[in-house]
Amino acid sequence: MRFQDKVAIVTGGNSGMGKEVARRFVTEGGLVVVNGRNAAKTETAVKEIDSSGKRAIAYVGDIALPATGDAVVKAALGRFGRLDVLFNNAGIFAPKPFLEVDEAEYDRFVDNILKGSFFAAQAAAKAMKAAGHQVRLVPARHGEEAVSKVVTDDSVVFLAVPDGAVSDYSAALARSSMPQGVSVVHVSGALGLSALAP
Ligand SMILES: NC(=O)c1ccc[n+]([C@@H]2O[C@H](COP(=O)([O-])OP(=O)(O)OC[C@H]3O[C@@H](n4cnc5c(N)ncnc54)[C@H](OP(=O)(O)O)[C@@H]3O)[C@@H](O)[C@H]2O)c1
Repeated sequence: MRFQDKVAIVTGGNSGMGKEVARRFVTEGGLVVVNGRNAAKTETAVKEIDSSGKRAIAYVGDIALPATGDAVVKAALGRFGRLDVLFNNAGIFAPKPFLEVDEAEYDRFVDNILKGSFFAAQAAAKAMKAAGHQVRLVPARHGEEAVSKVVTDDSVVFLAVPDGAVSDYSAALARSSMPQGVSVVHVSGALGLSALAP
């Protein structure tokens, strides 16, 4: 089987796409830590994902808090002894017209999606590195990809986070139904230019 005895963390694994991914890991022989904030929902999902009670556990916690990233990794190592995959899926999808987004909402999105996934990835990468794995970052966004093509120093990886996010939302905003006459232009940061310079 494809994931025989490999260990995965699925953040936001108690519903939707995360739950299906967690179920698939188990079906393919894997072991899974299912994360979510809602305890009852997460426990119920774990029972649905793994009826044997041996191949999936719940870790309840808010991934927007960096400490949760550390804790969910510790839960995987403590229960299953290793970590092979982090599926950074937790997030909120609640579209709202640009002109109506307030600061509290902006912070909620950035903390949940950007900060949460960043620190979960950091915690997982630390555990994988300590176990002697080669850590391979697979870029998912064009902004991150652009940076990852030219930069090999991991000390600047964090710069790709805001850069990728700004690049992405700028492109989305440019395609959205903004009022006539409003243009959206995203200018890439100095990082790409200086990294490309000889
Ligand atoms: N569905 C779409 O069309 C769409 C579009 C663009 C992006 N996305 C993104 O793709 C991912 C999956 O989408 P989906 O529709 O399958 O999502 P979903 O069914 O709404 O599930 C979201 C999951 O994330 C968890 N979650 C949210 N905030 C969390 C936090 N701070 N800490 C821990 N867990 C958290 C939720 O669990 P709790 O409720 O227990 O916290 C739930 O398990 C999400 O990140 C979503 O934002 C979805």
